[in-house]
Amino acid sequence: MTTSRPSGRQFPADFLWGSATASYQIEGAATEGGRGPSIWDTFSAKPGAVLNGDTGAVAADHYHRVPEDVALMQGLGLQAYRLSIAWPRVQPTGSGEFNQEGIDFYVDLVDRLVEAGIAPVVTLYHWDLPQALEDAGGWTNRETAYRFADYARRMAEALGDKVTVWTTLNEPWCSAYLGYASGVHAPGRTDQAASLAAVHHLNLAHGLAARAVRDVLGDSAQVSITLNLHVTRAASDAPEDVAAKQQVDTVANEVFLQPLLEGRYPEQVFAQTAAVSDWSFVQDGDLELIRQPIDLLGVNYYSTGRVQRLQGEPVVGDGSPGVDGHKSSEVSPWVGCDDVEWLPQPGPHTAMGWNIEPAGLTELLVSLHERYPSLPLAVTENGAAFADEVSADGRVHDLPRVEYLHDHIDAVGAAMDAGADVRGYFVWSLMDNFEWAYGYDRRFGIVRVDYDTCERTLKDSALWYRDLIATRTIAPAGTAVTLS
Ligand code: FCB
Repeated sequence: MTTSRPSGRQFPADFLWGSATASYQIEGAATEGGRGPSIWDTFSAKPGAVLNGDTGAVAADHYHRVPEDVALMQGLGLQAYRLSIAWPRVQPTGSGEFNQEGIDFYVDLVDRLVEAGIAPVVTLYHWDLPQALEDAGGWTNRETAYRFADYARRMAEALGDKVTVWTTLNEPWCSAYLGYASGVHAPGRTDQAASLAAVHHLNLAHGLAARAVRDVLGDSAQVSITLNLHVTRAASDAPEDVAAKQQVDTVANEVFLQPLLEGRYPEQVFAQTAAVSDWSFVQDGDLELIRQPIDLLGVNYYSTGRVQRLQGEPVVGDGSPGVDGHKSSEVSPWVGCDDVEWLPQPGPHTAMGWNIEPAGLTELLVSLHERYPSLPLAVTENGAAFADEVSADGRVHDLPRVEYLHDHIDAVGAAMDAGADVRGYFVWSLMDNFEWAYGYDRRFGIVRVDYDTCERTLKDSALWYRDLIATRTIAPAGTAVTLS
C-alpha cells in the first residue's frame, strides 16, 4: 500500500519550515469588516469563469477562525506561515481611506502568530486587486503601482518589525498574463498588449513597494518577491527548438528576473513582442526604481514544460485543454510565442494535470544560485492537488501528496548539496481552499476542509510534515500512515 522512498536527508537547524495560503483563497467574509470588492469577487461572479460557479465568498472561513487556524499551525510545529493581505480589506477602493477594521484583522493575526512562535511571512499582493483600481485600468494603469506603494507603506507602519519577510508580489506572471492576456484569471481581460503593460507596472509596483517598506522599517526589513519561474525544456537540441525554449524563458522568466535583479529588460523581448507592443509604457528611471535590493527570492514550483518550434498550423488560443470542459482561452498567455508548440509531458500527473518532476526544482534552484550567487532563495510554494478521499476511519490517507512532498523536499536538499542557498520551504497549502478558476474542486491542503461545515481535519501529509519539522529529517513516504 505504500511506496517506500529513500530517506534520511537531514536539513540544517536554521532552515525554515512553513506553509502558505492566500487571502482570497481562504478568508471568505468578502463583504464583512468593511472589505471592498476585489477583482476576484467580480470575476468569480461571472457565469462560466470559475468551475461550478464557485466564489471566494465563504472559502475556508478563515476570517472567523483565526485562533483555531493558528492553533492548528502550532500543533504542526510550523515555524513560519506565509499569508497574504487582502488589499481591499485594508483599503476598500485601493486609494484614499484605509479601513482600520481590516488592518486590525491582520495585526491580530500577526500578533497571534508571533505569540505562537510562528514567523509571519507576508505577501502584500496575491491577486485580489481592489475592483475600483481595475475600473481605472488595473495593472495596465501606471497609477496602480503608486497606489500599491502607498498601501505597502501603510501595512509596514501597521505591522512593523513583527513581519519576518515582506513579499511584494506573488507570481506576477499569473497576474499579468492569465489576468490580462488569456483572461482565465481575474480581471479576465484578453488583450496581449495589456498584459505586457501589466508586466511592467507589476515590476514597478514591486520596486516602489520595496522602497516604501524600507522607508518605514529601515534596512533591517527583509524584502522579497515570489516568482513562478518556468522550467521549460526544448524538445531537442535543434536550434529552432532551443530558440523556442528561449522565447518562452524570455516572456515567462526574464521579463521579471532581469529588471528586478539586473536593472534591464531582456533585449530579445522587444523584437519578440514587437507585433503586440512597443513597450512605450517603460519610462526613464523606471528600471532603477524596479531594481531594489532584495533579501530573498521566493520560488514557487509545481511542474515543468516542454516545447518545440511549431511544426503545423498555429494553435488557436492557449493550447490547453481547458478547465474540465470549460473552454480554454482563445487568447494565448504566451505573448510572442505564436510559433512555439507545447508538448504533453509524460506522467505521473497531479489532479491539476501538471506533471510531477522533482528534478526540475533542483535544477531551478541550482541555476538561480549560479546566476545570482549572493541571493538567498526560499521555496515559497510547492505542493499538489489530488482527489482526496475521506476513509471510513474519518481520515485522509493522502499518500500521493506525501510522496510528492517527500520527493520535492528531497529535491530541495539536493539543490542545497549542490550549493544553492535555500533558506526555507513552504507547502502549498496549509488547507484546502479556493483554487482560482478551479474553485473548490482541486484540493491542495495538507489539512482537509469540509466545505459544508468548514471543519478542518489533518491529512496524513500534515502528520508526515509535522514529523519532518520535528526531526528535520525526511522520513520514508509510507511512514505517514502509521502516525497518529
Ligand atoms: C499558484 C498560486 C497559488 C495556488 C497554487 C496552486 O500559482 O500562487 O495561489 O493557487 O498555484
